[in-house]
Amino acid sequence: MSIRTLDDLLAEGVSGRRVLVRADLNVPLDKQTGAITDDGRIRAVLPTLRALTEAGAKVVVFSHLGRPKGAPDPQYSLRPVAGRLGELLGVPVSFAEDTVGDSARSTVDALADGELALLENLRFNKGETSKDDAERGAFADQLGALGEAYVDDAFGAVHRKHASVHDVPARLPHVAGRLVLREVEVLSRLTGEPERPYVVVLGGSKVSDKLAVIEALLPKVDKLLIGGGMCFTFLKAQGHEVGTSLLEEEMVGTCADLLARADGKILLPVDVVAADAFAPDAAHDTVPADAIPSKRLGLDVGPRTVAAFAEVIGTARTVFWNGPMGVFEMPAFAAGTRGVAEAITKADAFTVVGGGDSAAAVRALGLDESSFGHISTGGGASLEYLEGKTLPGIAALED
Ligand code: 3PG
Ligand code: MG
Repeated sequence: MSIRTLDDLLAEGVSGRRVLVRADLNVPLDKQTGAITDDGRIRAVLPTLRALTEAGAKVVVFSHLGRPKGAPDPQYSLRPVAGRLGELLGVPVSFAEDTVGDSARSTVDALADGELALLENLRFNKGETSKDDAERGAFADQLGALGEAYVDDAFGAVHRKHASVHDVPARLPHVAGRLVLREVEVLSRLTGEPERPYVVVLGGSKVSDKLAVIEALLPKVDKLLIGGGMCFTFLKAQGHEVGTSLLEEEMVGTCADLLARADGKILLPVDVVAADAFAPDAAHDTVPADAIPSKRLGLDVGPRTVAAFAEVIGTARTVFWNGPMGVFEMPAFAAGTRGVAEAITKADAFTVVGGGDSAAAVRALGLDESSFGHISTGGGASLEYLEGKTLPGIAALED
């Protein structure tokens, strides 16, 4: 594939040019205060932004945040992100109140060389996520008119066929930013010939979200360790009762089929932390995975599971991890995620953490980010990459 890069654009010279940068600044916000709880995605795009401002470009950054429904919705404003971005860059960031309206145009017009502006949430416009090519295209025309070149550094959104990801690059000279390049470089090591044993650890709540990636990974991996909310549908498929744990009843048959075809590669929890309620202070005990009391729900994997998973991870030469093992946001149910994450940091292996939630878990648990080989900024995007799907945002950069 031939993709031009930020370095190619810099070599052409960007001084005085308006350069659009699609970033994924979709950061988690505190539900009560609206404060940014993890700024990893903002920090991840800084190298691209700095390279452009230092080269004298007029940098116009745009992103989505959350899933507003095509109209302005104050709880999803990017304004707090503009503030944080300015702090991290150490320069003021101007903020436009809209995406393609008067405010955006005047904010962009006011930029001097080397200055940077952030536009309001792309998803306040229906055209951004529209399935209708013409509607998306009309919005992309307006967005594209704001700049003279386009840089995609929004790895977390490359799996979305959205105007800012898929249609703007068709209208302007386009290149991949530093983050997108690095992500693709790392993930292609996993889809190529990973060093063996290759161990994948999957968690998170929904089997249905992970089904395609499980299917795609099974023939490639040596072991697939499954924890998190989705393990209960697999435990049920093995014939165990799971109490009031998260269960996707309609997926039980599919999970049974996967287990039958997995040739012993899939490892499930042997014990779980079962609680009275989904609450930080709920009464809880560790129970065998085949003996979850009928009125309790599993909120974490237990210590024997952590030990068993750690042993497998300890033999690996390549590890990919996506999805927490339990409700790590509640300290009583964080030990599983912490234990597995620590085992990954200790492995003598090339280790990749995929995804918004697992990346946030690493930082929320205070683990050293540098003890992982790579922490991806994309959850859905990294999974779809590993599935081998064509990603609209990457395809749009190819010539
Ligand atoms: C993410 O957080 O997964 C990315 O920012 C994409 O967001 P989306 O799933 O709402 O498209
Ligand atoms: Mg997502």
